[in-house]
Amino acid sequence: MSKVTLSAIKADVGSVAGHTTPHPDMIKAARKVMVQGVEDGIINDFYISRVGDDINLFMTHYSGENNRDVHGLAWDAFMAATAEAKVMHLYGAGQDLLSDAFSGNVKGQGPGSAEMTFEERKSEPLIFFMADKTEPSAYSLPFAKIFMDPFTTTGLVIDPRAHEGFRFEIVDVVDSKKVVMETPNELHDILALLGDTTRYAIKRIFSKEDSIGPAAVISTDKLNITAGKYVGKDDPVAIVRAQSGLPAVGEILQPFIFPHLVAGWMRGSHHGAMYPCASEESNPTYFDGPPRVVALGMHITNGKFQGMESRNSEVGHHVPLDYFSGHEWDYTRQKAIEMSIYMRQHGPFMPAIVPPEELEYTTRPSVLKKLESRMEDLE
Ligand code: F6R
Ligand code: MG
Ligand code: MG
Repeated sequence: MSKVTLSAIKADVGSVAGHTTPHPDMIKAARKVMVQGVEDGIINDFYISRVGDDINLFMTHYSGENNRDVHGLAWDAFMAATAEAKVMHLYGAGQDLLSDAFSGNVKGQGPGSAEMTFEERKSEPLIFFMADKTEPSAYSLPFAKIFMDPFTTTGLVIDPRAHEGFRFEIVDVVDSKKVVMETPNELHDILALLGDTTRYAIKRIFSKEDSIGPAAVISTDKLNITAGKYVGKDDPVAIVRAQSGLPAVGEILQPFIFPHLVAGWMRGSHHGAMYPCASEESNPTYFDGPPRVVALGMHITNGKFQGMESRNSEVGHHVPLDYFSGHEWDYTRQKAIEMSIYMRQHGPFMPAIVPPEELEYTTRPSVLKKLESRMEDLE
């Protein structure tokens, strides 16, 4: 059987009243393009979701990663959504589409993408994470716990295949470099890199068991650098395969109980606590945030998505498990708001705001220019 490819491609192409949520007609327009993509045989199946102001397209196909037709389809879906946003004069219409014409791959053109290819197992459970108002390295801490920490994932101790450890492709998003490292032997070296969330992020994780293959992938397209100027945080999407030699669903979700501080939030320039919630609850309403994460559970079944929907549902209609919708996550949401309020009390002071080179925009050069004639050397 040929290997199935999962492609998650996301973009913010406009939203209602601030950077809040795409309009339903934008989703409808994107959906129409996706349905056509299935009819034309470009993709096998799709699911469209949103977190905050981002539209996330999830697609299955057998054409491999970086496929021109698949990326082109996603691009067309975002163009169709943009057209709707423009008619309604919605905010930031088309903001993540950095050029007028598609060049063969969404990489470097604005949208974020995460893709993985594997032999479908007898049962193939997976989790899609979607985050808004933050950056790819926001996943580093929870993913490090899931795949490296035996106090989080008991499977690392007692499941013979997980026990072997994992391989990590780590990217330096500033210098566009990557390195593959592995646990448990290089654990401390890996953390020496990942701790710098301004520069390093996990791109891919692999099982050391060849028959399993990829375990996780994260979109790491650094939009601000892609564009040559800052146009927003990346709002990353991630795909994680679960169970049978990989961390269990419960082990994968567990670290999100801790609302860790991440960069992003208002103007992409603050530190706020990660707020786990349902897709429907993902409108950023407190200071354009706080940064949010949604976790959706589905299966890949014969190259198509399978959630809670009937097997006879219309194409692209899926009902994933929305893991963070439950009340057990109220505790974390409460904590995330408390921590975010605490950070806000610092106003424009670090560490509430990100370091100067990470600010989305700044007035400092013009302020310093104004002060040039008054600036004196210290005694
Ligand atoms: C953060 C974000 C928002 C905007 C903020 C200012 O990723 O999208 O917080 O940065 O609303 O937006 P502008 O500069 O468009 O007025
Ligand atoms: Mg936005
Ligand atoms: Mg966004």
